[in-house]
Amino acid sequence: MEVIISKTSEAMSKAAALEVADVLNTKPNAVLGLATGSTPLGLYKELARLHKEEGLNFSQVTTFNLDEYVGLPGSHSQSYHYFMHENFFKHVNIPTQNTFIPSGTTSNYKAFCAWYEQRIADCGGIDVQILGIGTDGHIAFNEPTSSLQSRTRLKTLAESTIDDNARFFDTREEVPIYAITMGVGTILESQRIVLLANGKNKAKAIAEAVEGPITSMNTASALQMHGSTRVFLDDEAASELKMREYYDWVRDKKPGAPQL
Ligand code: GLP
Repeated sequence: MEVIISKTSEAMSKAAALEVADVLNTKPNAVLGLATGSTPLGLYKELARLHKEEGLNFSQVTTFNLDEYVGLPGSHSQSYHYFMHENFFKHVNIPTQNTFIPSGTTSNYKAFCAWYEQRIADCGGIDVQILGIGTDGHIAFNEPTSSLQSRTRLKTLAESTIDDNARFFDTREEVPIYAITMGVGTILESQRIVLLANGKNKAKAIAEAVEGPITSMNTASALQMHGSTRVFLDDEAASELKMREYYDWVRDKKPGAPQL
């Protein structure tokens, strides 16, 4: 893992956006894996700016979202379909038919999950997967004890995740209990991974994911087995890392490092 720490959340988002732009500039028909939540909002904003002001082109891009709440139609303001449209898709030129988000309203979840996995494979796999992290270390909705080989499936959310996400709903009771989510195994097959975290409330989960043992108790820790993961943090999210000096040292020495 490469850990890149920025002073602010805004700088973190910009650094991560450059990573995504780099993928698009070298592969215009790249397949992007997308995340929701408050963390990637700055990244989407910066990608939209790069599109509008610097011509970053999404016309050949395909996207797959990580997850969706079960029971929320796409028109619901807290569905991830709605989130993606409002915060990203409507600001860039990705063809709508190239955007895939798990269905929260299918009548056959098992068949839908199998189709979703196959669709990712048919599109050549994910080139870069964007991830946030839950306070319990989850990636997508892979709650603690999820198999580290899991595939797209239905999951029951942890109560702590329901608590965390209640802030987006009028009442806690409205937060769905189930979600459909890519598995840890699905995520690990992405060519590159960009994990983002900001704020003090993510510091513990990040320290465990980056420096702790690989464990299903923090599913983000499985990223230690992935060969090309970059972790973009702000100062607060990095505050419990023991190896902080080393990460900064690597970053500062990078310009002089031999090119691979
Ligand atoms: C949800 C999403 C995750 C996201 C997490 C953190 O649980 N399923 O993909 O990483 O929330 O959200 P936030 O960025 O709002 O802290």
